[in-house]
Amino acid sequence: MLDMKDIPVHVAIIMDGNGRWAKKRNLPRIEGHRVGVERAEEIITASKDLGIKYLTLFAFSTENWQRPKEEVSFLMALLKSYLEAKERELIENNIKFNVIGRVNLLPQEVKTVIERVVKSTQKCDSLNLILALSYGGRAEIVDAAKKIASRVMAGDISLEDVDEDLFVNFLYAPYVPYPDLLIRTGGEIRISNFLLWQIAYTELYFTPKLWPDFTKDDLIAAIKDYQKRERRFGKVID
Ligand code: FPP
Repeated sequence: MLDMKDIPVHVAIIMDGNGRWAKKRNLPRIEGHRVGVERAEEIITASKDLGIKYLTLFAFSTENWQRPKEEVSFLMALLKSYLEAKERELIENNIKFNVIGRVNLLPQEVKTVIERVVKSTQKCDSLNLILALSYGGRAEIVDAAKKIASRVMAGDISLEDVDEDLFVNFLYAPYVPYPDLLIRTGGEIRISNFLLWQIAYTELYFTPKLWPDFTKDDLIAAIKDYQKRERRFGKVID
């Protein structure tokens, strides 16, 4: 049974397996991404209904820029049309939208719609939906280090004050609590440069299901598994 009093506050998901799902059906890879967006929508709605407060989806990595040009363009177009089509629904469902990553590298027309939806959902306060776009965990840490270095050089911060608590303030989304549960679909047992700083004590859940097959019931199964774990954060618990 799902314990509604022990729902993870922040769930992060690596949505892997779209390409393989399409290949198995002799479809082009982009068809896997198209169905992948439908699953993302189902999981966003389910997360809100379950009372999850933060949902971070890994939609495009710093490494994904190296995919064939057509696939990158398709993913960008998909993102733009998703946001355009869903802006109203996000507001009506009280879902606050945000992004993390090197967003400045995205095409201008994608950035424009992102900025608009971030603004128009700013006051929403049920689920926080965070898309990781042009995101890499190492890049995030490097970007934070650079921002801190420039503040130290400017004399705003002294070197002695740089500690973990200060560092966090320079990550892409310092206001977001660390993920309680990280789910990866698609069968690979690795992190692939996602949220490296934030997942130090996150519970990890891997499933062979390909992302276009991952449903609300699969999300519930992952949360049930999470609820069986004892979280000690490096401490001893009697
Ligand atoms: C991984 O599958 C998936 C991606 C790199 C893109 C994921 C993007 C979406 C599902 C759409 C974004 C969501 C929203 C809400 C707009 P893969 O291509 O790496 O699959 P493979 O490992 O089987 O090749």
